[in-house]
Amino acid sequence: MLTSPVDDEPPLTGKMQPTNVVVLGASGSIGEASLDVLSHLPPKRWQAWGVSAHRQLGELSQRLFATGLRPRFIVASDPDSASMAQGMPWPKGSELLFGGDALVDLATHPQCDTLIAAIVGRAGLESTLAAVQAGKRVGLANKEALVVGGCLVCEARQVSGAELIPVDSEHSAIFQCIQGSSSPPRSLILTASGGPFRTSTGEQMRQASVADALAHPTWQMGRKISIDSATMMNKALEIIEARWLFDVPPSKIQVMIHPQSVIHSMVEFVDGSVLAQLSPPDMRLPVQYAITYPERLECPVSRLDTLSRYDWEMLPADPERFPALTLGFEVAAAGGTAGAVLNAANEAAVQLFLDGEIRFTEIVPACRSALENHHFEQHPTLQRLLEVDRWARAEVQRWHSGTRA
Ligand SMILES: NC(=O)c1ccc[n+]([C@@H]2O[C@H](COP(=O)([O-])OP(=O)(O)OC[C@H]3O[C@@H](n4cnc5c(N)ncnc54)[C@H](OP(=O)(O)O)[C@@H]3O)[C@@H](O)[C@H]2O)c1
Repeated sequence: MLTSPVDDEPPLTGKMQPTNVVVLGASGSIGEASLDVLSHLPPKRWQAWGVSAHRQLGELSQRLFATGLRPRFIVASDPDSASMAQGMPWPKGSELLFGGDALVDLATHPQCDTLIAAIVGRAGLESTLAAVQAGKRVGLANKEALVVGGCLVCEARQVSGAELIPVDSEHSAIFQCIQGSSSPPRSLILTASGGPFRTSTGEQMRQASVADALAHPTWQMGRKISIDSATMMNKALEIIEARWLFDVPPSKIQVMIHPQSVIHSMVEFVDGSVLAQLSPPDMRLPVQYAITYPERLECPVSRLDTLSRYDWEMLPADPERFPALTLGFEVAAAGGTAGAVLNAANEAAVQLFLDGEIRFTEIVPACRSALENHHFEQHPTLQRLLEVDRWARAEVQRWHSGTRA
């Protein structure tokens, strides 16, 4: 538990009390957007109260001084980075905490009002789930938490009344489009840029280098999500995320390719109306919306230029070229342990690709193989999901050794 003098501080009262925001994963790409947003919001209304980094503590330190933010708590979650953290400059008054447990302590602390869940991968599950169980507002960037534990997170949301507000631009768009409608949507249309290999041949994808796969045409993102965008596994994870967030069956979810990344997603209603949310591609907008919802405030992003001519394209997605999409629909329909297997297998396979061990086009077959070999369970506990996660990572290593034998 977090044992700090702050536990004894009486809560502030009255309408001057600012909303305390915790950003877990503040050294990453969404973390950077979140700190920038917080540095622009009125400090009497929202303040960065806690932040975390895993290994890039120098990056976090620089960001805090550049934005002028002075969080009450800073977590260095990788235990091996503790001594490095102690030797670094931090804003005056900030207290350092260490280790993975401190992430959960901060996310569930009575003085934390809003969590921006911006840790990448399965590592974000425990803190996200704990914040939902504690009834916090959670701005969810960490889609993997829902892919792995969607059932647990959504059950916890129902019990605690936590607000789960998507930060993923597609899901934020859908969330914005359904505000004010009491009728369920007929379908959700997720848009996808198509990534760097949208027009590449199969052979070009087979030969793709790490640098080719990281070169996303419209978004600046972390390494893992950039590779996921290139395989379109990111869209597969988003199909699963949408299934849980909006409680819709996968048969009501569609994917369309929109290379310009301006139309962030669309919702079709039963009367035939289709609503979309548009904005230049900049994650600060959905981050800010998750923090200030239902209010809209000035945001430091560029605006759509209404004097320009636009030639926006919308094309059907092709699962034959991007077989990750088929996996996404299958896993969204299966539920249970399937999401944990897909997510872990993908994280392991992406790492093998980044390490130069497998080809780009082997990432999806590695995931397919793990899914085919696993013993499916419909109602897993958190403990079981974590075991399945470990099994799937080991299974990808076995698959890799087998294909090289
Ligand atoms: N980037 C985008 O535009 C975007 C858009 C939509 C959704 N998302 C989602 O947002 C999440 C973050 O993506 P990102 O692009 O910001 O990733 P990123 O740039 O790689 O940042 C990831 C963050 O997670 C931290 N982290 C990594 N491993 C950790 C662990 N084991 N325990 C605790 N913290 C750990 C990192 O710390 P260190 O760097 O200090 O090691 C960093 O702060 C992902 O789930 C992604 O799918 C991102």
